[in-house]
Amino acid sequence: MAQTQTKTGQRKRTAKTAEEKYGVLEMPDLTYTPEIAKATASLYEKVRHHIPEIEWPVHAPYVYWINKLKKERNAVILAHNYQTPEIYHCVSDITGDSLQLAREATLIDEDIIIQCGVHFMAETSKLLNPEKTVLIPDMKAGCSLAESITGADVRLLREANPGVPIVTYVNTSADVKAESDICCTSSNAVRVVESFDSDTVLLIPDEYLAQNVAKQTKKKILTWKGHCEVHERFTAEELLAYKETDPAIQIIAHPECAPSVVKVADYTGSTAGMIEYATSRPNGSKVLLVTECSMASNIQENSPGVEFIKPCNLCPYMKRITLPKILDSLVYMREEVFVDPIVAARAREAVERMVNLKPN
Ligand code: 13P
Ligand code: SF4
Repeated sequence: MAQTQTKTGQRKRTAKTAEEKYGVLEMPDLTYTPEIAKATASLYEKVRHHIPEIEWPVHAPYVYWINKLKKERNAVILAHNYQTPEIYHCVSDITGDSLQLAREATLIDEDIIIQCGVHFMAETSKLLNPEKTVLIPDMKAGCSLAESITGADVRLLREANPGVPIVTYVNTSADVKAESDICCTSSNAVRVVESFDSDTVLLIPDEYLAQNVAKQTKKKILTWKGHCEVHERFTAEELLAYKETDPAIQIIAHPECAPSVVKVADYTGSTAGMIEYATSRPNGSKVLLVTECSMASNIQENSPGVEFIKPCNLCPYMKRITLPKILDSLVYMREEVFVDPIVAARAREAVERMVNLKPN
């Protein structure tokens, strides 16, 4: 039986674990057979620019068995735009930015969600689907932003700023979401902030996202000192040096970058916004994606006429998710994401308020 920690610290027996409910399977034979070569040939075409032919026999059996077991288990694979090309193109059912994945999570029919992304994304899926089984292939897939703040910190902020609405970036734990009025993602932060009548809004924990939003609203934005360890590494100097080599290069930045970086960018937006902007450039364009570098590899396939320049900052947490771990999830039904039901109920409200916010 699964156990959850209640507010009073008692451990409570809850519903069956995924392992108890669905049982474990035998690990399939991972030999690269002619049947597997044939079944995965069209998928290889989508990643051939990133995976040398000589390496495909290592990946193909995983791809084959993940896709087969996914159907047998009635599972769906949600993958963030930062996942590696073999996950993004060969085994995922739904890809997107944080908002798209949260929205899609509310529309899923399958019994089991395998979240290929980081822990806060899996928690968000669980919050929106409390009856479903949510698995993350590696529980250690964290996030520097999510780790920068706790629920207790948010309670102190509320005490110190009475009456000020608290907007929490979706890159946070369920504990933090539970203490906030509403969540936001990088694609809707301005709209969420503006949905309040108050002149002052707390937008936490990403300091740079808050500073970038502050430039697009008349409201006074208070924030926290959290940073994304991938995006904080980019500097305006480094980007301007690229522009010097070729002034036609379009710089496309994520709003988790410092305002000085956003200032030199031609476009700033969520990963979905960046993809839309980059892939709609005319043939012959050169774009520099100021974000996690798997994303350029993932979208290159659909934009053969665009040259992607990739300053390669990898997110070590996103990269914990691999094909062998996804297969382990399907075979052994692990690692299951649980959220304390009391925390979940409050966190769900904050996420649902965001998901249900009407577009402008
Ligand atoms: P979005 O995909 O929502 O833009 O978020 C980027 C990110 O850093 C997620 O970890
Ligand atoms: Fe967190 Fe940054 Fe990695 Fe996204 S890219 S998961 S914000 S550390």
